[in-house]
Amino acid sequence: MTRHYSSLVGWGHYAPENVVTNDDLSEIVDTTDEWIRARSGIERRHFVSPDQATSDLCIEAGRRALDRAGVAPEDVGLVLVATSSPDYLTPPVSSQVQHGLGCANAGAMTLVVGCTGFVYGLVTADQFIQTGAYETILLIGAEVISKNLDMTDRTTCVLFGDGAGAVVLQATDRPCGVRSFELGSDGSQAEALIAPSPGTRNPVSQYAIDHRTHYLRMDGRAVFKFATRAMTESLQRVMDKAALGVDDVDLFIPHQANARIIEYAAEQLQLPPEKVVMNVAEYGNTSAATIPIALSEALDAGRAEAGGTLAMVGFGAGLTWAACLFDLGPLALAPPDSGADRDRQPAPESVIDDRGVVEGLIA
Ligand code: COA
Repeated sequence: MTRHYSSLVGWGHYAPENVVTNDDLSEIVDTTDEWIRARSGIERRHFVSPDQATSDLCIEAGRRALDRAGVAPEDVGLVLVATSSPDYLTPPVSSQVQHGLGCANAGAMTLVVGCTGFVYGLVTADQFIQTGAYETILLIGAEVISKNLDMTDRTTCVLFGDGAGAVVLQATDRPCGVRSFELGSDGSQAEALIAPSPGTRNPVSQYAIDHRTHYLRMDGRAVFKFATRAMTESLQRVMDKAALGVDDVDLFIPHQANARIIEYAAEQLQLPPEKVVMNVAEYGNTSAATIPIALSEALDAGRAEAGGTLAMVGFGAGLTWAACLFDLGPLALAPPDSGADRDRQPAPESVIDDRGVVEGLIA
């Protein structure tokens, strides 16, 4: 019987043009560039413009990934979108993305697993390919977090950003794809990272608006404690499951929430710095988008080659964690003008308007 494996044949990412620096934020809340850099490693982040929504970012990143793979939208069997910031509560954003990309023959599904969504999605896609159910899957991790940030709360608003990253997975009979994985959840810590409304627990109401419950709230110290342990232990477990050591892994791509969390995990596991991808300085925490953006940038930069082994690990709302080892098959060659050169957008001067308000974020 033919075995099916998932080959990563295309990748791409997109970040909105608007760049918000730490100094920009220090004009809105009581913070400083020094504090944000020292505590998180973040230097800037990209925020959408008022007319942009999550599906727009998904479509841009998804198109770049399909172009690079040389895969026609009609040949995609399943569109998976990992996000916690969909355009609407219903319909699912994955259907807007499927339609917007012209994936006329694809099913579409949204995975809501916070910052671990991309790794959960990668494992899900790999399972669908292994069973032979799908030949070609487009997986996207994307978020517009800026529109759910309380721009009066300095403990959260400085940490997050918007963006999207995508990969195309295709069935092959050559061994590659997910080699080992772990998906975890500890719902007892749900309130450590929560946007309490709107939802069925707290529907839209004047009370919810007055008490700003529609914005993201976080117990930073609790999440920090959870994250350092979850990252380190789950990464070690997936390496143990695959009987691989640090030397056997070519590139570690951790969730980009805080440079200190990544550095802690790298130190604990004795990962060589050159094998650890870190771009949190540029984007901040883009939740489900951090790992695919980092992966896409790393592949663009040639930091991993065909046949290489990647380790990905994330943590986030739930609280959840997820880790996997992924073997690259033969990587598709980038066709000319595939979109890779467009990935870095020129930074505008500032998006702070005359009132000292980040455009589109505060009424
Ligand atoms: N600017 C300046 N000061 C700030 C600030 C800001 N943006 N945010 C908080 N502070 C203050 C606090 O009020 C506190 O002051 P106090 O000592 O007078 O009470 C002080 O800085 C230290 O706060 P603390 O929360 O202990 O800082 P920290 O070193 O734990 O760093 C985080 C805070 C949020 C950066 C850190 O806890 C973290 O990264 N947590 C994990 C968050 C995360 O990864 N979330 C995403 C999950 S997917």
